[in-house]
Amino acid sequence: MENVRIILSTSLKGGVGKSTVASNVAYQLALLGKRVLICDLDFDVRSLDLILGCEDSVVFDISDVLSGRVPYGKARIQCRSDCDLYFLSAPSRCENAFSNGDLDRLIKDACEYDGLDYIIFDTPGSDGETLKYALHCASESWVIASHTPASLRGAQKSAELCYEHGVTPRLIVNSFDYESVKNSKRSGINDIIDKTSVPLLGVVPYDRHLFFAQERGILASDRDFISQRAFFNIAKRLVADTTGERYIPILKGIKTVRRKRILTR
Ligand SMILES: Nc1ncnc2c1ncn2[C@@H]1O[C@H](COP(=O)(O)OP(=O)(O)OP(=O)(O)O)[C@@H](O)[C@H]1O
Ligand SMILES: [Mg+2]
Repeated sequence: MENVRIILSTSLKGGVGKSTVASNVAYQLALLGKRVLICDLDFDVRSLDLILGCEDSVVFDISDVLSGRVPYGKARIQCRSDCDLYFLSAPSRCENAFSNGDLDRLIKDACEYDGLDYIIFDTPGSDGETLKYALHCASESWVIASHTPASLRGAQKSAELCYEHGVTPRLIVNSFDYESVKNSKRSGINDIIDKTSVPLLGVVPYDRHLFFAQERGILASDRDFISQRAFFNIAKRLVADTTGERYIPILKGIKTVRRKRILTR
């Protein structure tokens, strides 16, 4: 329980890739031998069950555990046979309010039952009650942004909220489009960091395979996905935080690029 890292995937802007990044980085962490629980806190429109391909396995959800109706071990799903990746779905409709204490109890039960290294909360793209609960129990967050000015504003506001709650934010730039940056049509990585004022953890390229794979519940796992290496790099950098390994370069293996042009436009 003391060693578990509780991380939010967040942005106050919708559709920037919070669920995509959360599920794929969780999977890469699990493939690295970590024991990972991913929870869907998007109570309005849950999507992680679809992205993880476990829609048909969901019987109970996080609201059953929070209300004490169902024990954690009965509600969580093991989503992959090749690694320790566990999943708690959001309810299709949540009628009961819950408290910070309920979430603390869930975390304690989950750690005791599964001996977790990481708990990742996928949050909704709005500043509601569930986000507040998640901010109460997390210590770190991934703030997701893309090139668009609205997503940068959403990321900046999310980071402010994280700092207010003592949660350390790190930036993941998602759907990064190298070509348009090279052609000076969109902001480069340095501009994005400047505009959000959040330290960078990773960059995930735009990957059209992700879009179609998610409709079939497939995670980025092989060479067809140019984003797979980016998710792996992020997972390695997270692990390096605690092991003291050398940080893996952010763009390693993703694309051979004229780095200066990508960074500065
Ligand atoms: N790197 C990427 N390349 C291409 N498409 C992506 C990428 N990341 C996410 N997408 C696509 O963008 C869409 C939105 O992604 P996702 O559902 O993860 O966003 P979200 O921030 O969780 O949205 P919401 O706020 O609704 O919860 C999805 O169709 C997903 O496939
Ligand atoms: Mg989502």
